[in-house]
Amino acid sequence: MYHLIPGFTLTEVRAGDEAAYMQHLSDRSVHDNTLRIPYPYTEADAKDWVAGRLQDNLTKPRITEFAIRNEHGYLVGGAGLAGLDVEGSHRAEVGYWIANPFRGKGLASAAIARLCDLGFGIFGLERLFAHVFTFNHASARVLERCGFRYEGTLRHHEKKNGRFVDVTVYGLTKEHYLMLQRRGPVTLKKLAPEQIDTIVSEFQAIGWDKPRQTFERYVSEQQTGQREAWTAWLGDRFAGYVTLKWKCDYAPFAKENIPEVSDLNVLPALQRQGIAAELMSLAEATALKKRGKVGLAVGLSADYGKAQRFHILRGYVPDGRGAQRACGTNLAPGQCSEDHLWMLKGG
Ligand SMILES: CC(C)(COP(=O)(O)OP(=O)(O)OC[C@H]1O[C@@H](n2cnc3c(N)ncnc32)[C@H](O)[C@@H]1OP(=O)(O)O)[C@@H](O)C(=O)NCCC(=O)NCCS
Repeated sequence: MYHLIPGFTLTEVRAGDEAAYMQHLSDRSVHDNTLRIPYPYTEADAKDWVAGRLQDNLTKPRITEFAIRNEHGYLVGGAGLAGLDVEGSHRAEVGYWIANPFRGKGLASAAIARLCDLGFGIFGLERLFAHVFTFNHASARVLERCGFRYEGTLRHHEKKNGRFVDVTVYGLTKEHYLMLQRRGPVTLKKLAPEQIDTIVSEFQAIGWDKPRQTFERYVSEQQTGQREAWTAWLGDRFAGYVTLKWKCDYAPFAKENIPEVSDLNVLPALQRQGIAAELMSLAEATALKKRGKVGLAVGLSADYGKAQRFHILRGYVPDGRGAQRACGTNLAPGQCSEDHLWMLKGG
């Protein structure tokens, strides 16, 4: 038995779980977002599934399909590693669902984190991956919180409810997982006035031009609901920040109500450790939850070379309007001081 979040555990599937499966999997949202869970979910489906897992519990060297339980031992979700022949495979596919009333508590994220520990630490896997329907932003967020990275989009890869659907592939290699373990957890906080002294002095120390007024403006725009801003911390150490502007100055995005991720920075000494990914994932999930799309601009000069690669590897594509050319120094809203390419994700 593994502890997930307070009051919840990951255990083997047990005799008597059938009723919980029937109760939760009669919720169509689970079927609509997964590939192999039937709908309507019948008593026979529940009996077959539980019988198969009880058989596995007796015969397999290690179990790979788990139940998520509350403090009363009642099953409230499932998580497992599919396609895993223990000792024979180098990779496995993670699958998971959480019963509707228990979503949004970090349960899926905690369960996937434990599956990663098991997959890499005990089963000796080299790679974990997941296929997510492109519209399932909550599931993508869960994977990113656990360190999985976007690897590509497969067009019309699955047929669901009579329609072809695009699938996003997320993957996590053992090497990346171990790097994240060595790095330790990153805490993301809302930007707050008491953080500003630390942030400004960290940037001063490396000679980056990040004036105090910028952060004060972000705090006040946060209060008026124009902008969200988050900072990242490794223990007590400030590591970086990002903001999300609800109204983009770029007219084509403003017209379509597409929010803009803006001003992503990670201190150079802490780069290449997945911190920018943590900041971006939170900013994107916040945008996608409300608007279904998210955009950003990246400079075209070599100064932005790392950012260009980073955003494209996260699945951003140019908006198709070509580069926006620089407009000099006295800039009106919507104008820019560098040549930029506007890019989009989602939708
Ligand atoms: C996907 C699912 C497993 C998530 O379970 P959960 O326990 O709510 O997950 P967590 O609480 O660990 O994390 C959910 C994250 O998604 C975010 N999220 C929720 N809805 C979102 C949306 N529409 N867009 C973007 N992010 C969203 C949450 O805010 C949370 O992130 P946060 O911790 O930064 O706030 C659950 O919604 C589910 O069972 N869905 C149906 C089955 C399914 O989709 N399975 C996965 C198939 S690939």
